[in-house]
Amino acid sequence: MSTSILQKDREKFTELQKVIDEYKDKEGPLMPIMHKAQEIFGYLPMEVQEYIANALDIPVSDIYGVATFYSQFTLKPKGKYSIGVCMGTACYVKGAQAILDELCKELNLKPGDTSDDLNFTLEATRCLGACGLAPVIMINDDVYGRLVPSDIKRIIDKYRNK
Ligand code: FES
Repeated sequence: MSTSILQKDREKFTELQKVIDEYKDKEGPLMPIMHKAQEIFGYLPMEVQEYIANALDIPVSDIYGVATFYSQFTLKPKGKYSIGVCMGTACYVKGAQAILDELCKELNLKPGDTSDDLNFTLEATRCLGACGLAPVIMINDDVYGRLVPSDIKRIIDKYRNK
């Protein structure tokens, strides 16, 4: 791990400590602290869960329990680009599975996974509300519709080169 990454982590923990100081004497401090921690780190790695547990003097299993119960918390890092492949009915009947398969192949990822370079997270999602464009994927806020598998490489390359 390079020094700059360590330095960055230190800054993040300093920021987390400020959040803990702000909330720890308030009622129900855990949820707001966990939310802020996820904003700071992008996810809730074990070191962060342990840090919060120590600071609040509660078992780390309490934090883990909350983190796994609520879907807004994530224990895995997210990529810079989050790719959501709609698997809703309209998209499914128009070939969403083939789009998802092509993305898995292109990125060498399984749904739910993040690439090692933290560039891409691939997810199968529910209806994205753009059924008229089925099959649809979203990459962060960008919507791509009426896709065929051969479109995928060109789209992904745009983000690879960003
Ligand atoms: S089913 Fe895919 S956008 Fe609605």
